[in-house]
Amino acid sequence: MQLSDKKATLSFSDGSAPIEFPVYQGSVGPDVIDIRKLYGQSGMFTYDPGFMSTAACESGITYIDGDKGQLLYRGYPIDQLAQNCDFLDICYLILNGDLPDGAQKTEFDSLVTNHTMVHEQMRIFMQGFRRDAHPMAVLTGLVGALSAFYHDSTDITNPHHRHVSAIRLIAKMPTLVAMAYKHSLGQPYIYPKNDLSYTGNFLHMMFATPCEDYKVNEVVERALDRIFILHADHEQNASTSTVRLCGSSGTNPFAAIAAGVGCLWGPAHGGANEACLQMLEELQANGGVAKVGEFMEKVKDKTSGVRLMGFGHRVYKNYDPRAKLMQETCKEVLSALGLENDPLFKLAMELERIALEDPYFVERKLYPNVDFYSGIVQRAIGIPTSLFTAIFALARTVGWIAQWSEMLSDPDYKIGRPRQLYTGSQVRDVPTQR
Ligand code: ACO
Repeated sequence: MQLSDKKATLSFSDGSAPIEFPVYQGSVGPDVIDIRKLYGQSGMFTYDPGFMSTAACESGITYIDGDKGQLLYRGYPIDQLAQNCDFLDICYLILNGDLPDGAQKTEFDSLVTNHTMVHEQMRIFMQGFRRDAHPMAVLTGLVGALSAFYHDSTDITNPHHRHVSAIRLIAKMPTLVAMAYKHSLGQPYIYPKNDLSYTGNFLHMMFATPCEDYKVNEVVERALDRIFILHADHEQNASTSTVRLCGSSGTNPFAAIAAGVGCLWGPAHGGANEACLQMLEELQANGGVAKVGEFMEKVKDKTSGVRLMGFGHRVYKNYDPRAKLMQETCKEVLSALGLENDPLFKLAMELERIALEDPYFVERKLYPNVDFYSGIVQRAIGIPTSLFTAIFALARTVGWIAQWSEMLSDPDYKIGRPRQLYTGSQVRDVPTQR
């Protein structure tokens, strides 16, 4: 963070003395006004619900230019990364700041691969969950429970412990998500297989059974790996900010990531992929493409409470670059699996076409986000809708843990403690007779 020559001055209409604030520059993107001294000097807070204009931290991991539709991990454009790297390259990049060379890649892949098993007692722990529990409910519990099994890596002041817990989380998330799926089916959990790739192994744990091996389909493996890459990090979104805030109290990494999983579950965030596919399925069942016009009228009617799921984004006010890559993958997977005429894909394309021409969406700069097509891909692969958000959580774990670790190594790190504008009752006495 670099001090700018510019300063910001806050003046008041009541004649109080103006206050001057330093301005800092990032490497790219908007400058920030440092208002940390505001309360001390004026007795006032700033008010910014939803963090519309507030940078809550300094970070060097991910950069988004929402107007340009640009997403960079450690400076590299997402499309180049998606085309030239696998998910473990991305994990290495996000955690360490640069892409691995050949030797680093071999070492990192082997490290992650050798941590994929979970403590055998996790199987017993799983038995407490109902078979019909939502996978995100199970995952929130499982991730939180990791701290009970792996407390030898929870000294957050020790960078080695932080690294070990990062590797453990990245390695074990696919095992936990697959276990949650198998539990819902009542099938035996499948152990990881270390000769498979990270994503191939996840597919194996999801779809193999003790009586039948699963042969990993390369197109499917590549598509899922791309879904992981596109969801790996997204700067200070709601779940990442939750992980940072939760972690800022000094809690252990597993508890902080469990908080992130809980936040991601909501339909305005990671839950949107599930909600989007449900929306497409419902629309398909109620008339499909022929009813798109009617449905869009409902979406635009603010009293209907209906939103076009998979559309709109707090930061992207242009096409989400991840959605473009996802649409490409969607075509590839459907064609490889002989599903080119998939009615939901056709429906999604039609909704997108109409929305991109409709003034309601154009004026509000509402474009498809990554979730618009990822559900169709996952459904084609055979992943049930209820597992979509858990897969998002699996992929986002690396971003969460890297952001958490970055926060802890920041010299300005403090417990996160927002303030408020209090509008409740003033001090009053409890009546003695009630
Ligand atoms: N369908 C219809 N109208 C929408 C949509 C949508 N999907 N998204 C935004 N709008 C409208 C709002 O009604 C509002 O209209 P107004 O100005 O007339 O009141 C305007 O666009 C701005 O919307 P906000 O809700 O204020 O935008 P915000 O930045 O707070 O919300 C969000 C962003 C939550 C993503 C929103 O666009 C949404 O709900 N989208 C659908 C859910 C979704 O796809 N979420 C996934 C996000 S990406 C991710 O987590 C990976």
